[in-house]
Amino acid sequence: MGKDVIIACDFPNAETTLEFLDKFTDVKPFVKIGMELFYGAGPEIVRDIKFRGHKIFLDLKLHDIPNTVKKSMAVLSKLDVDICNLHASGTIPMMEAALEGLTRPDGTRPLLIAVTQLTSTDQTTMESDLLINEPIDKVVMHYAKNAKKAGLDGVVCSPLEAEKVHEVCGKDFLTVTPGVRFADGDIGDQKRVMTPKQAKLIGSDYIVVGRPITAAEDPVAAYKRCVSEFVD
Ligand code: C5P
Repeated sequence: MGKDVIIACDFPNAETTLEFLDKFTDVKPFVKIGMELFYGAGPEIVRDIKFRGHKIFLDLKLHDIPNTVKKSMAVLSKLDVDICNLHASGTIPMMEAALEGLTRPDGTRPLLIAVTQLTSTDQTTMESDLLINEPIDKVVMHYAKNAKKAGLDGVVCSPLEAEKVHEVCGKDFLTVTPGVRFADGDIGDQKRVMTPKQAKLIGSDYIVVGRPITAAEDPVAAYKRCVSEFVD
């Protein structure tokens, strides 16, 4: 899969989500389904969106013992999504088990990417709550290397980390980056942001864009603007 724009469908229910997707008549954007929508609407929403022809990043961030993650990934794999994810802090054996679970009998599987450190965790809370005393950038790169060692396809990271991840893990290791805003748009609660064009220049493989598209007056035009800045 090449570079693409993924729309974060952070909606509370199926009706709002499908109503939003109805606006896209001539294109079928790549869609991210997160915990809120999945827990609210159930696996049926994944099937519905897939049936409409969209690619899906199912953002459920699994983190449990290897056996549980393996079996859960096998269930998600049957939903025929395109990208799944988990927490790299679950360790290499958990990530290896996840890959095993995700792989279908015919050898195909969705892409699997890892969350390194959540962007809501900073140096202070990482030290005080997790007792990790290394610099956060080093921890993020270490987790990315672990994901690569386990055989995963890439990581979710800040656009500001994407270049370094590619240096450390190779340019084929995928970087999926949220925190994207238009140069003339609202930042909202995101702190460290980049425009789609900057994300392209630093080598992000996929950008995840929520409110700049979902809250836009014309979401289709906003999506197309992202595509023209990031992909074209
Ligand atoms: O609306 P906005 O563009 O900020 O949405 C970004 C999306 O990416 C949300 O679904 C958010 O949960 C997700 N995300 C993020 N930062 C991370 C990981 C995921 O913003 N580090």
